[in-house]
Amino acid sequence: MQPSESTTNHCKLSHLITIKQITPQLSESLCHRASQFKHFFIKQQHDQYNSILKNKIVNLLFFEPSTRTMCSFQSAVLRLGGNPITLDIQSSSSVKGESLQDTLRVMEQYGDLTVMRHSKRGVHQEMTSYLTKPLINAGDGDGEHPTQALLDLFTIKEEQERVAKLMDFKVQTICLFGDLKFGRTVHSLLRLLYIYFRNQPLKIYLISPEGLRMPQYVIDDCVQLGDNHTLIETESLTPEIMNELDVIYVTRLQKERFENEEQYLKLKSSFCLKKEHLNTSRNSHVPIIMHPLPRVDELDEAIDSDERAAYFRQMNNGMFMRMAILEMLLKQQ
Ligand code: NCD
Repeated sequence: MQPSESTTNHCKLSHLITIKQITPQLSESLCHRASQFKHFFIKQQHDQYNSILKNKIVNLLFFEPSTRTMCSFQSAVLRLGGNPITLDIQSSSSVKGESLQDTLRVMEQYGDLTVMRHSKRGVHQEMTSYLTKPLINAGDGDGEHPTQALLDLFTIKEEQERVAKLMDFKVQTICLFGDLKFGRTVHSLLRLLYIYFRNQPLKIYLISPEGLRMPQYVIDDCVQLGDNHTLIETESLTPEIMNELDVIYVTRLQKERFENEEQYLKLKSSFCLKKEHLNTSRNSHVPIIMHPLPRVDELDEAIDSDERAAYFRQMNNGMFMRMAILEMLLKQQ
């Protein structure tokens, strides 16, 4: 397929702020496009995509630390033939007290789209009233991380296909495990599971220590999106649950969101996926193990060499999904 035949061009999104903007059709076409980009990339058919963002400039504003999200966006822009501007926040005018809306208004004079990560939940929505060009939410505090959820969905679909070549397989049971209270990736992913798998009922386990449960407002959103799935909240990952799982998505304890060190220390090391957990699993192809990364001490490195460890493949998928998202928002301009 030629780049001009992009399947995502029909989309009318002005910004990507929350995963709730994504429809089942749109998530399907973004995954399809990401998979095309991945295919062209592997086959070294770079001319299939390297002029899609010709003459386009993308601003990258990261007010919170980032390795994968920032660099995969940067790489996606460059691979599509565009140019990124990375604002170094520490040496920018925001340290002189410039308001966020002023910084964004300035940056949109220079670039055609802005990708922003910020510590304040909901801030992207607030900022859209000041902007005339697309804004992408690359993480808003303990709120959401919609581009991560899309790359997670892309990974689940790819892994489902990979395992289906080895055995009769369809994802039916998924577990989100770890800090579900502050982890923004799982807030977006849980909603997306309700949006995308509306015709494929899932059993979803939410496993976290008591103080780190999935916020009720996220669960309420999911219930509004549909009641097809069975949601089970519990505190421990038992061998029985492990035997049922097709996918386990691990998240780290979000240290930076704790109000006091004592609370953090109380929960530190309260959960960890270890190699021993996997041995109880029903066969050697499942569960597919995912993690948005970075990991700290909740995911045993001994698992890395296991075929089921999908987190480095997941990270690799991030660049292709971000290429698809950038194309979608910039091609319709
Ligand atoms: C996640 C984030 O920033 O929310 N990282 C990422 O974007 N890959 C997860 C995390 O920091 O734990």
